[in-house]
Amino acid sequence: MINTIFDFIGDDSGEWKVTSITTIKGNPITAVSHLTKASSNLVQSDEGIWTLKGIVSNLRYTEKEEKEKLVAVQEDLGRPNATLAAFIPIRKSEAWWNLAQDERRKIMENKSQHTQTGMKYLPAIARKLFHSRDIGEPFDFLTWFEYSPTDADAFEELLVALRKTEEWTYVDREIDIRLMKKSF
Ligand code: HEM
Repeated sequence: MINTIFDFIGDDSGEWKVTSITTIKGNPITAVSHLTKASSNLVQSDEGIWTLKGIVSNLRYTEKEEKEKLVAVQEDLGRPNATLAAFIPIRKSEAWWNLAQDERRKIMENKSQHTQTGMKYLPAIARKLFHSRDIGEPFDFLTWFEYSPTDADAFEELLVALRKTEEWTYVDREIDIRLMKKSF
């Protein structure tokens, strides 16, 4: 059975209002005013102005102890007070993908302390990682974060810390899309 495919649909209307789109690195993306996150199961569907697709995959680098810590503290998406979100599609360079698994883990965790740094921002920031590389998408990863306005500064601080790491020298495309939950 194929994993559920999630569609992130950028359009003129939708679930989340886009508050900003910033090209951090590489080619920009067409501007849209709204974003909807939906599960589709369809590899071919293309809706809205653009659709980016990702699947929830197995963990690649997380070790048992880290996994247990994450599971114990992380919160689910969809908290009513988490009215802000960030959708950050990321692509890593060929140099990254040419490394062996253990070399990548070393860069992410030993040198860049990705999980250790990120853990400091849990449970305030709820997160979900989608993989896109293996389904022929323009980005390798689609990352999604939800938080309340009181944790917005903390989220910025986390981004500054991660973007300074050795891991991020392998990022060759990154678009930072900020969102606000629409109130009806
Ligand atoms: C909120 C705190 C965060 C925590 C606790 C966290 C934790 C993790 C963990 C444990 C993994 C490894 C998953 C695996 O084993 O395959 C991971 C992967 C990843 N994270 Fe984070 N993260 C956080 C924030 C962020 C942010 C803010 C970004 C982007 C701006 C980000 C981007 C990524 C990407 C792209 C990957 C996949 C890397 C790869 O497989 O090469 N993370 N994260």
